Amino acid sequence: VQQAMTADFVSNDISSFRDNLLRKGWAVLSADIVKNEPVQVLEQFGVLAPQYNGKLSFEVTYQPGYDDAPYSQSMNGLGAHTEAPGYEPPPKYLALHCHRQARCGKGHTLLADAIRFFDMALEPELRDWANSNSIDFHAAAKPGSLDSLLLRAPIRAEHNGEPMVRFSYNLFRYGNVNASAAEMANAAAEPTDALGRIAEAGEAFFVANTIPVLVPDGCLLLWNNHRLLHGRGQYSDPARHLTRYWLA
Ligand SMILES: [Fe+2]
Repeated sequence: VQQAMTADFVSNDISSFRDNLLRKGWAVLSADIVKNEPVQVLEQFGVLAPQYNGKLSFEVTYQPGYDDAPYSQSMNGLGAHTEAPGYEPPPKYLALHCHRQARCGKGHTLLADAIRFFDMALEPELRDWANSNSIDFHAAAKPGSLDSLLLRAPIRAEHNGEPMVRFSYNLFRYGNVNASAAEMANAAAEPTDALGRIAEAGEAFFVANTIPVLVPDGCLLLWNNHRLLHGRGQYSDPARHLTRYWLA
């Protein structure tokens, strides 16, 4: 069933992969073309950039210690966000190379159009607020970590003449891109501030417009991080394993 559902969005050559990426903002390349060498593919689309851990790759797989946090190395669902909103600029593209997809059938990568959310769906009062206020993008390297980054930037900007959105449900609601359970417990149940309301509006848009992608084993998912929100569905197979890359 999984193969039947996924076959229609997997590109079997680089040119259709590139076409899909430019047209939809995301694309999946087949395992036959990736040949377990995702870096060789990615170098055709940008320059690999160091991540929160200072390295050019990051293992997205279950690690104990984050069971109560919405973090990539937990099995929890992840709310709507763009990657590394506290970087200037954030990575243009994000990639996930799938070694082993969750056998529980869940753990989808979720994608939605961030530009359509901000420019069309967000209520004008909140859009006006966002256009006249910069946000402190505060990001711990991982939940509870003391080393953190801070960048003041607007939610909606342009980069090299193209639209770019920075969004983090965790930051807008809990004050940290990689929020800890303690930071989450301190947040109001129902936000009344503009930033908290933008978080809830973004998450509601994300749920209503999400494209769920279950990357098949060996395949490579690439998407435009300036243009799309992403998140993850909760899963229960601790052997799920993908490698994440950022492209400048
Ligand atoms: Fe992410």
